[in-house]
Amino acid sequence: MIFSLFNKKPKQPSLELKVDIHSHLIPAIDDGSRSMAESLKLLRGMEQLGYEKVITTPHIMADTYINTPKIIKDGLDLLKIEAKKENINIEIECGAEYYLDDGFSDILRKGDLLTIGDKYILFETSYYARPIHLKDMIFEMLSLGYTPIMAHPERYRYIKEKKEYFKFKELGVMFQVNINSFAGQYGKDAKVKANFLNKNGCIDFLGSDIHNYKQVEKLELVMKSNVYKSIFKNNNIKNNDF
Ligand SMILES: [Fe+2]
Repeated sequence: MIFSLFNKKPKQPSLELKVDIHSHLIPAIDDGSRSMAESLKLLRGMEQLGYEKVITTPHIMADTYINTPKIIKDGLDLLKIEAKKENINIEIECGAEYYLDDGFSDILRKGDLLTIGDKYILFETSYYARPIHLKDMIFEMLSLGYTPIMAHPERYRYIKEKKEYFKFKELGVMFQVNINSFAGQYGKDAKVKANFLNKNGCIDFLGSDIHNYKQVEKLELVMKSNVYKSIFKNNNIKNNDF
């Protein structure tokens, strides 16, 4: 009892994720939402899950999703107008999910890219083949003053040994794990790796990676689970800093 009088109770980690940093909500510019109506439904769902802000991140991938900052910002402006008309009370910003290909190197050199906050770059790679220049591109981002965030590190099959994750962290890469990986949405391998990253305190950010409404429903299930609570106990989740 005396102990408790002289020692402040440690602050409880917040279980409320107010900011999402990975989703595909801008209509018809990647493999996410296909229409404005669908985007509004997804946003409404996210609002009901407790999100106050979403930084949506359309794919930028040479040959497949040839998006530019202008295309994304124009799409964002339209989405914000429609969301306001629908009284959806959620702040919407944009970044991008950059696929590490030759096109990305050009973009990085030109400096015309969409960051999360002022210096964070969300990137993804092939799920199966390790990019030959992966480390070089990570160093290039860092040397230019950016902080690379690897999107869903649990999904890459080429990461065979779990200790590889620690090597990425040592290089200065931050990790954004998909919430629905804990529900097995991306298969057993991704679920096992997500649990490993959780238990080892390697998760910096959580992402919804929403492409469609089914994923919103799955998010709700994970958010009610004990494993979700454990993520906040084991890791320093930084989403709400944005
Ligand atoms: Fe994504």
